[in-house]
Amino acid sequence: MKNSKSTKPIDVTIVGGGMITNDLILPSIYHLQRTGVVGNINICALNNSPLKVLKENQDILEAFPGQDFTAYPSLCEPANKNFLQLYKEVIAKMQPRQAVIVAVPDQLHYEVVMEALRNNQNILCVKPLVLKYGQTAEIEKIAFKKGIFIGVEYHKRFDSRSLIAKRSYKLGHFGEFIMGEAKLIEPYFYRFSNFQNWFTTENTDPFVYVGCHYVDLVYFITGLKPVEVSVSGIKGKFPNGKEGFMWSNGRVKYENGALLSVINGLGYPDEGAGSNEQCLSMFFEGKGKNGLVKHDDQFRGVSHCYLEGIGCAGSHFNYINPDFFRLVPWEGPGYKPTGYGFDSVSATINTIYQIENEVMSLSEDKALKRRRKIIKEVDEKGIIATPANSYINELIIESARISILNDGYPVKIIYGNKPHVELRKK
Ligand SMILES: NC(=O)c1ccc[n+]([C@@H]2O[C@H](COP(=O)([O-])OP(=O)(O)OC[C@H]3O[C@@H](n4cnc5c(N)ncnc54)[C@H](O)[C@@H]3O)[C@@H](O)[C@H]2O)c1
Repeated sequence: MKNSKSTKPIDVTIVGGGMITNDLILPSIYHLQRTGVVGNINICALNNSPLKVLKENQDILEAFPGQDFTAYPSLCEPANKNFLQLYKEVIAKMQPRQAVIVAVPDQLHYEVVMEALRNNQNILCVKPLVLKYGQTAEIEKIAFKKGIFIGVEYHKRFDSRSLIAKRSYKLGHFGEFIMGEAKLIEPYFYRFSNFQNWFTTENTDPFVYVGCHYVDLVYFITGLKPVEVSVSGIKGKFPNGKEGFMWSNGRVKYENGALLSVINGLGYPDEGAGSNEQCLSMFFEGKGKNGLVKHDDQFRGVSHCYLEGIGCAGSHFNYINPDFFRLVPWEGPGYKPTGYGFDSVSATINTIYQIENEVMSLSEDKALKRRRKIIKEVDEKGIIATPANSYINELIIESARISILNDGYPVKIIYGNKPHVELRKK
């Protein structure tokens, strides 16, 4: 199964051992390890309790027999002892030009990405890359100077329905995007998870957390830039008493005047078939007739009813998304991951693997030129989200945060030499 060519696998450090690492990143990285793309795997979390959960996850153990990762902090440490800065030591110990996967809460992405850059590590960052446009511009500049590759994990881009829509839009099959509606309501039980410690009003909100997926998708499909954002939120209390926005209702205006409404929340009923609710409708103006794209991203035609309550939040009857991420039988040992979640992680890690193997025998000078050429090609291709081709997301997020904290007042996005955002004048 391993690559027979004399290529070198990439060592990976995942910073953050929470839900996204458990559900998507670790299984994807394990599969890439057994196909020879990834070498050693470290996972560093704030404390070792999520790492113990990852090590004992039965689905992962059955899918990837014999595979393991090094836990930081070690499982011998007390479970409640926090190691805020340990990720810095773990990254410093890596060989340069490997890969750091950033999977910590949104507001910590900037400092972990900067630490990886300081240590000359390629990066895969879960969305959103950062929360401010100025930070993404800074990151892009440093990474390009050093020839470091950064991919941002916007996996909806890899859903074949998004790729089909992107191609058809470019071919002029629909007309010009003019009016749209998107929805992503995450499960209610999220309120009981580690979210209650960081998903608080001052850090984030449902629009920033998941609305950004659909805003990214509309840009991915159409290439239209957003110019104004307004987001209203509804606050609520997490079980630990902290206050967060549980719901959000956003409106994005585009450079051609098009409008997109986006509703988000941590509130899809645990008893529902879910596991969440999500969809996108886009209407387009043509000449004398109109076009339409309609994606039901929740019910994809597969339902399961289990004998025991093993479904989402202990439910029995579930709508299954066979397209995002599933572990399925394959010709090798255990199970393999399939779906656009895996494709998305694999696209960035494979790009890093290809870059590093391609430049291995080149002089430093030639290697840097080659790295930069590949980075530019990926930026221009626009499939993997990179700081250069997905910076509109940081402008959107920055605007959305200002708007939601100002009762939904519109925030303008101004492009040009120095893109920035400002509250619309009254
Ligand atoms: N659909 C998606 O693309 C998607 C889905 C879920 C999460 N995410 C993103 O993934 C990120 C993490 O979300 P999650 O759901 O896994 O959160 P989570 O709360 O379940 O996990 C966060 C992890 O970060 C770790 N952490 C916190 N501070 C740290 C530090 N100083 N050093 C090392 N580790 C530290 C915690 O120990 C924990 O393991 C967020 O940015 C979120 O937006 C993306």
